Amino acid sequence: MKKVITYGSFDLFHEGHYRLLKRAKELGDYLIVGITTEQYDNQRGKLNVVDSLMDRIEHVKQTGLVDEIIIEDHIGQKTEDIIKYNIDVFTVGSDWTGVFDYLKEYCEVVYLERTRGVSSTMKRAQNYSIIRLGIVGTGRIAKRFIPEAKYVSGINVEAVYNPNIDSARNFAEQFELERFTEEFEQFMDGIDAIYIASPHETHYEYIKRALTEHKHVLCEKPMVLNENEAKELYALAKDNDCILMEGIKTAYCPGFQQVLSVVRSGLIGKVCDVEACFTKLENPLSRELTDVKYGGSFTELGSYALLPIIKILGKNYKNVFFQSIYAENGIDMYTKVHFEYEKAMATAKVGLQAKSEGQMIISGTKGYVIVDAPWWKTSSFEIRYEDSTYNEKYFSKFLGDGLRYEISDFVSAVNGNEKNGWKLTREESIAIARLMECFLSRKGLENDTIL
Ligand code: CTP
Repeated sequence: MKKVITYGSFDLFHEGHYRLLKRAKELGDYLIVGITTEQYDNQRGKLNVVDSLMDRIEHVKQTGLVDEIIIEDHIGQKTEDIIKYNIDVFTVGSDWTGVFDYLKEYCEVVYLERTRGVSSTMKRAQNYSIIRLGIVGTGRIAKRFIPEAKYVSGINVEAVYNPNIDSARNFAEQFELERFTEEFEQFMDGIDAIYIASPHETHYEYIKRALTEHKHVLCEKPMVLNENEAKELYALAKDNDCILMEGIKTAYCPGFQQVLSVVRSGLIGKVCDVEACFTKLENPLSRELTDVKYGGSFTELGSYALLPIIKILGKNYKNVFFQSIYAENGIDMYTKVHFEYEKAMATAKVGLQAKSEGQMIISGTKGYVIVDAPWWKTSSFEIRYEDSTYNEKYFSKFLGDGLRYEISDFVSAVNGNEKNGWKLTREESIAIARLMECFLSRKGLENDTIL
């Protein structure tokens, strides 16, 4: 019996997929199809798959052409499968010509002519119109956003707004954007969504204006610095049928998701302690270190360090204490936050003028997870036990600057697919806003050192 194998995502199943499977079957007697998992697609940077794995399996099954379906979930699996299933022919479409020649060592490799004029990518574009996005702010993060957005299909950055017209013009020229303006109303004409990367304290007003005009919003962290504002904006988004998402990029990246899954699966027992540290030495003349009202370490980096604590231990802490070292101008150079929960505790440490190891440790009753620095760009972590022979190390891709993951989830949400909403829920985002408010309201009080 001649065995044939082929692989793919088979998203939004189409004529090209059917024709490929038909010809693949004709190459032998028994056809095996490997379908990629969502996790694997994410890891290899394919961030736009719409159908769930179950739906994709069902569509391939319904063709009646396939004898066996398997799941492809890791790199290097193809050689394993070929040996394991005793495969005679490996085949894929001609868009992959040459890429799989290394498999010739194990079996025959056939590249089948790709069907012209159809692809999952084209179907995605037909099903959903391209989201026209405008950017508010022209600083460092805004500059990182544009190259990252190019990795996500279904979104196009078209305009930039900055109250300073020269900055807007320079930004538009640098990134070849169609429009730049210093007028917010004009800016919102002809766009569907905005990404906000302006100074923290300006977010609330921009979000409110955009939502009122029925524009979807992706806003850099910290979204707002006040609990009631966060609640009000999420309610406004709901009333106006718009997506409002806080861009804490770590929340959306695959490695961090994997850490949370490991912890939730009980592998380290009951969680007793979460410690997360994020420091980044900043230029003393930067906005972060000179904006005495809203700058400083906690407003700048706190969202990251609070994220794993709120995700793992929840929003119902019994107590929270802040301790800061302040610079003369009142900016917190370094801040430590202690949480007390019913049966656990946590610490978040952030600093713009103090340097420490950027790692995260989640301690449990059976073992602990250590996430290597920089944990907020999670690419490796280890589960460690008393008996170190059981230790296990995990690796995950963190592609580019990592903004592409949140952009991709934003696009899915705007297109009506909120399957990723759990990565950072409204309630979690509101809890982080509450902690920002709490920090700002007690700044300079007891427990603080001024340097
Ligand atoms: N395929 C094909 N003809 C097409 C589209 C896909 O023969 N018009 C083949 C691919 O070469 C591959 C298989 O179908 O062997 C599964 O491809 P997949 O990547 O799932 O489909 P695409 O439509 O190419 O997906 P995307 O646009 O997301 O890359």
